[in-house]
Amino acid sequence: MPFSFVCLPAGFHGSPLRKRNAVKVIPATAFLWLVGGVCLLLNAAGMAQAPPAQTGGINDPALDSRVEAILRRMTQEEKVGQLVQYSAGQPTGPGTGRSDYEDMIAHGQIGSLFNVVDPHQINAYQRIAMEKSRLQIPILFGLDVIHGFKTEFPIPLGLASTWDPEIVEKASRVAAMEASADGIRWTFSPMVDIARDARWGRMAEGAGEDPFLGSAMAAAYVRGYQGLRLDAPDSMAACAKHFVGYGAAEGGRDYNTTEITEHTLRQYYLPPFHAAVEAGVASVMSAFNALGGIPSSANPFTLKQVLRKEWGFRGLVVSDWNAVGELIPQGVAIDGEAAARKAFLAGVDMDMVSSLYHDNMQKLVNAGQVTPAELDDAVRHVLRVKLALGLFDHPFVDEAAAPKALYHPESLALAQTAAERSFVLLKNANDTNGQPLLPLASGRQNIAVIGPLGGDSSYPNGAPADAGPRTSLTAAIARRAPQAHISRFQGCGILDGTDQELAEAVVGAQNSDLVILALGESPEMSGEAASRAHLGLPGRQEELLEAIAHTGKPLVLILFSGRPLTLPWAFAHVPAVIAAWLPGIEGGPALARTLFGDVNPSGKLVVSWPRSVGQEPLYYDHLNTGRPAGDADLTKPPTDIVSRYVSRYIDEQNTPQFPFGYGGSYTTFSYGAVTISTNRLSAAELNENVNAEHAPAVMTAETTVTNTGSRAAHEVVELYIRLQGTSVAEPVRALEGFQTIAISPGETKPVKFELKPDAFAIWNNRNQFAVEPAKLSVWISPDSAQGSPAETEIVP
Ligand code: NOJ
Repeated sequence: MPFSFVCLPAGFHGSPLRKRNAVKVIPATAFLWLVGGVCLLLNAAGMAQAPPAQTGGINDPALDSRVEAILRRMTQEEKVGQLVQYSAGQPTGPGTGRSDYEDMIAHGQIGSLFNVVDPHQINAYQRIAMEKSRLQIPILFGLDVIHGFKTEFPIPLGLASTWDPEIVEKASRVAAMEASADGIRWTFSPMVDIARDARWGRMAEGAGEDPFLGSAMAAAYVRGYQGLRLDAPDSMAACAKHFVGYGAAEGGRDYNTTEITEHTLRQYYLPPFHAAVEAGVASVMSAFNALGGIPSSANPFTLKQVLRKEWGFRGLVVSDWNAVGELIPQGVAIDGEAAARKAFLAGVDMDMVSSLYHDNMQKLVNAGQVTPAELDDAVRHVLRVKLALGLFDHPFVDEAAAPKALYHPESLALAQTAAERSFVLLKNANDTNGQPLLPLASGRQNIAVIGPLGGDSSYPNGAPADAGPRTSLTAAIARRAPQAHISRFQGCGILDGTDQELAEAVVGAQNSDLVILALGESPEMSGEAASRAHLGLPGRQEELLEAIAHTGKPLVLILFSGRPLTLPWAFAHVPAVIAAWLPGIEGGPALARTLFGDVNPSGKLVVSWPRSVGQEPLYYDHLNTGRPAGDADLTKPPTDIVSRYVSRYIDEQNTPQFPFGYGGSYTTFSYGAVTISTNRLSAAELNENVNAEHAPAVMTAETTVTNTGSRAAHEVVELYIRLQGTSVAEPVRALEGFQTIAISPGETKPVKFELKPDAFAIWNNRNQFAVEPAKLSVWISPDSAQGSPAETEIVP
């Protein structure tokens, strides 16, 4: 086997989750991990087996002596060179820097290149490093491999909507196998920024708004990319980004400033990064945003105090693209030398693109503004990652073998499963026959597929040229329903459209028995530099939607997007709506199978779905105000004092269109009452173990879930808590557990969660992570808005 493959269970359950320093294991399916491409799955409900820990990696003490041996031989120029990185391919930011890379590599002046994807070119650059540079330190090649390399998986927001860390881990493993075969050994992923504002285009790249789920996903990405051994040739160093708080960009506008208190930072924004560090992430990227006036790429509190001192991170910190240079427009440096000094002394080891370390670092050391010891430390971090990757031993890539890593049938099957599990059924009202419209009955004779996103393979980024013919949504529907007549109408473009296109689509709908309408955003409308002030359907799509709906034909709306879209009219008038995100290379077949009920949707929202842009930022784990709206009817403007002087809008409801954690199914569920194992916890006792890695569970919470419908299903079961009476106000609900159960029609399953002390700990008014006396409410529910809690007390 050319590649090691970490086989993971296809089970549907929570995974070992890391929050701060504690590990929480949610029991479920037992499994074996085998290296070498053979995967055996054992379904033995109730037995849990921890995945094997990564061996080696950046924390391996055996690396120390090798790092020191190299360091001792390096000149100052060569040391600075290791801290310098340039983009040598398709740029992913505004042009800066230089292009004489061959010459610089030969002089030991470059530590890393990124955006080079051709293995031949990668080898050519590497050959210069290994044959012409004095110390033969290999170049580390990086790329934004964020949801697959060539086998594209759903965007991370979609992957997170599976609530299945194992799927994320497997997808990242495939990404690592494919990209590393090209010589790319470093991915700038996962993006673990908490995203509470759908205007921010980068919401698409993360795991949503919740720190608990975000931590589980962060660790899963790291495990997948870095594999069982980081030095295996098919592993990639992961990079947790953007450190930190970037997701809180004001107004949802990319690159914008943020204001986050230390409490909020620690409780909500830092945990996914901590989980990544605990999982052994090799690198962290310092962000663009200024946090309380201090740019994240010049912030010693976050980079040195938290990341290095508190968490003991030993890997490499790279700046974001030109973030060192941007310290000048941000106003904390007046020239390049000051920018380099501030970023470096704050803890940024490697300068992505700006060239300011190359231009100034030696000067700064010679002037005594940076000490030789500080320079050595940064170089150690870079060398450590290169050594941990085994790059010194295997600097080159096998060019002939590279294509063989791509599009393995099992990788494509995983892409399809991931897509199927990522879809969120937002609405499924009854058809004229009194049955829910979905899944579609096979008897439909005339199906019209309408809309700009129904006709090609353009989700999310078009079928790569070498991927072979991929199946579009329309083709996949035709293949799944061979007896039906499928007609196809564009209706309009994503951003434009003519009256004639619209009129033809309406006639097409009138002549059909059923319309499948594929609308939404193009891939360029989310991700970096794609913030939106309006969250409706772009262009003439809303007009198309309303015209088609007015034909009265049964209508299924499939939304493609990198964020939730505000579509109150659609949710009021369209009977069936699926959020498909940008579902990746197998999105077409996955959607066809979902529409016809071969699979039952089980994805749930990882972001609150807004009714209006004006509600943003919108997140379920908000604090209560002193004037909560309570029972006031927020569907109408206030009419009296009681309904007016509460925290509300006079023209919109407070609640989201769909809450965090929500997702429909082709079956129905009923949840039993929640019982908890103890009626009193002691804060003092819990605090003894709050940071202990193997702390025992201190409470179990249980319920039953019954499949009350007629279809087998997977159901994501969510556990939330609320603490009242604490020194710092805590959210109205906070996720502290989740697991997915497989459940047959009519079956009732017990569901049990084990909670460890850290589940009840908060960052208190002294910014210490501790349990405090409180009233405790515990929900086990299908989403963040339903259910009745069990209640107890945490006594001092
Ligand atoms: C800027 C983005 O913010 C970051 O996420 C990405 O990794 C770099 N560009 C490199 O492309």
